[in-house]
Amino acid sequence: MNDYRPIIWKGNKLYLLDQRHLPQQETFVEVNDLPGCALAIKDMVVRGAPCIGFTAIYGMALWVKGQTDLTLEKCRKACDEMIAARPTAVNLSYEVNRCFDMMKESLSKKEPRESLYDNLVAFGDQQILESHAKNTSMAKIGFEELKKKVGDKKWNLMTHCNTGFLACGSLGTALGVISYANSKGKVEHVYADETRPYMQGTRLTAFELSKEKIPYSIVVEGAASYLLSHGKVDAIFVGADRIAANGDTANKVGTATLAIVAKHYKIPFYVVAPVSSFDTSIPDGKHIEIEMRAHSEITEFRGHRVAPEGAVTVNPSFDVTDHQFITGIICEKGLIDPAHAGELVKVVRS
Ligand code: MRU
Repeated sequence: MNDYRPIIWKGNKLYLLDQRHLPQQETFVEVNDLPGCALAIKDMVVRGAPCIGFTAIYGMALWVKGQTDLTLEKCRKACDEMIAARPTAVNLSYEVNRCFDMMKESLSKKEPRESLYDNLVAFGDQQILESHAKNTSMAKIGFEELKKKVGDKKWNLMTHCNTGFLACGSLGTALGVISYANSKGKVEHVYADETRPYMQGTRLTAFELSKEKIPYSIVVEGAASYLLSHGKVDAIFVGADRIAANGDTANKVGTATLAIVAKHYKIPFYVVAPVSSFDTSIPDGKHIEIEMRAHSEITEFRGHRVAPEGAVTVNPSFDVTDHQFITGIICEKGLIDPAHAGELVKVVRS
């Protein structure tokens, strides 16, 4: 565990660790307005469902600061512009719509614009701070579950994409469980999927695991069947970008394939995500919009063309894991069994 921060608010300015250049360069970009913030989210300067949400809150504060006459219509339009930056992670609309509620209340009370700005900044700070407590709670729940399910030995764990402090602003969700288990001396080895095509596993998860000195190997996604069939993995932990009411979960593309293979080899498969990643307004995963990203992410590798000229691609950034392949969903309120219909909705309302 460490105090490394991908989002810094300082002197009324937003600084984002440019995750596009990790792990080779650790540089920050300064963001000054709503379009700049939305672009940073779209271009994945900042990424990971929770961090996208936190960044957007500060983006809304920056927008309010730049306004002379605020109206509810302008506020809604600005919020929608921010929400449009990336479609799949519900945390973005979750946090921005909470900003909109604050704007509405402030306008109805005829508060000065400066107070709304201060309140939005304070809200961003508070969400990041609270996420630490939530992530710690999820980590402890995951740890206890591992003790029960896998037993009292050192565990070999697998993860997909990046769910650590770079994605969450603190500790992490799935990687938070791994990091916590490691702090208790219970991790033998971690297998980090490389995460084609954006390489979140190779670039970011491996970076985080090395910062925390957790023993790991990077593996290609296609190695899952080999590893799982050879008993190399005791349990799998992944994050989530949106979880529907029935437990179907959108996460980085490749997650669903991994879950299906895990079920075949009877390896426990857990989704770890805060309640802000739940979208109980949709009954199942078929209602989740999947972001399609640029061809160049596949045809090029860091600016070097690897596919023939004119090659076309299909590049969905996420997929939906059917709840039947998920052993448990861990949120800050507890462990949810997705096989029990309605349990997720009950937990959200509790
Ligand atoms: O496209 P990204 O890098 O934003 O995708 C991130 C993921 O899919 C993560 O696994 C997910 O957001 C959970 S983050 C705690």
